[in-house]
Amino acid sequence: HPPVSQMEETSLLRRANCRSKGGASGFKVAILGAAGGIGQPLALLMKMNPLVSVLHLYDVVNAPGVTADISHMNTGAVVRGFLGQPQLEDALAGMDLVVIPAGVPRKPGMTRDDLFNINAGIVKTLCEGIVKCCPKAVVNLISNPVNSTVPIAAEVFKKAGTYDSKRLLGVTMLDVVRANTFVAEVLGIDPRDVNVPVVGGHAGVTILPLLSQVNPPCSFTPEEISYLTDRIQNGGTEVVEAKAGAGSATLSMAYAAAKFADACLQGLRGDAGVVECSFVASQVTELPFFASKVRLGRCGVEEVLPLGPLNEFERARLEKAKKELAVSIQKGVSFIRK
Ligand code: NAI
Repeated sequence: HPPVSQMEETSLLRRANCRSKGGASGFKVAILGAAGGIGQPLALLMKMNPLVSVLHLYDVVNAPGVTADISHMNTGAVVRGFLGQPQLEDALAGMDLVVIPAGVPRKPGMTRDDLFNINAGIVKTLCEGIVKCCPKAVVNLISNPVNSTVPIAAEVFKKAGTYDSKRLLGVTMLDVVRANTFVAEVLGIDPRDVNVPVVGGHAGVTILPLLSQVNPPCSFTPEEISYLTDRIQNGGTEVVEAKAGAGSATLSMAYAAAKFADACLQGLRGDAGVVECSFVASQVTELPFFASKVRLGRCGVEEVLPLGPLNEFERARLEKAKKELAVSIQKGVSFIRK
């Protein structure tokens, strides 16, 4: 037998040729932080996604182990592992979509903002790699605090002259996933049939579920609204406390991230009517970034959709959310500009 690496290369070439002949090319996706609590199940789910032809798994620890493991799954995507900073550029070269769950998670008693000092630097370094190796890739940013890390990424890209606001998306999908689940519980229906828009940002009071716009149309008592809003805003903390020091949401997050990445890939492929909530550059409010429904397309964000009619409760909550968001956004911007 030829050595494994040689066999792998031959097989990669064969499969690449097949694809170009068949014309059914997929997308190249990189996960940065692929050996982490979110990264590992996310890698598993992306390896199962038929839209993915090449999957690059990058981390500063344990990337070869995770890659060997995932690569034995008999699904279409070719998997390659990259370990440590010297391999970051190879991990990123030619990618269509880069998903970033790199960084430390919360422990009980911490807010997402407490992660800023460590994660801001990690996100900066990774985005500098994107500038160099795949400036046209769509970026899905998961690392917390999302309300600050998305502005950090934008500043890094602006500084390099590669910024395209359509290609930078903060992942708030888990808030929607939770909202759908909790609302379905209250209504006594299947969570797959529920769609709750969640706008604002991804931390505490900045997470604003629009319960007046739930699909299918329904109504709630004031007690239900207060319970649901509170539970959706604190869903992350619920998991952090239950895990008691062992981290934050990883499995539900990987599910949400895979769902969101899949929507981005559907958009890149040119599918019509792909709409999800995301924290993006926005003119929906006076803030430079805001989470709301966006229509995804061949270039990333095709259109940021308006908030729609809010009731009095939601308008009051929106004002609260905007105050905190403004501070978090400014903190991210200053981190790069200073
Ligand atoms: P984890 O600690 O289990 O995994 C993080 C991974 O990032 C580790 O494997 C670590 O080696 C890697 N890493 C650290 N520095 C790196 C660097 N410079 N380059 C590449 N990889 C690096 O953490 P977990 O639970 O996977 O969470 C990751 C992040 O996702 C945290 O910041 C967490 O707060 C955030 N998160 C975001 C959510 C959202 O809704 N957007 C929900 C849940 C978590």
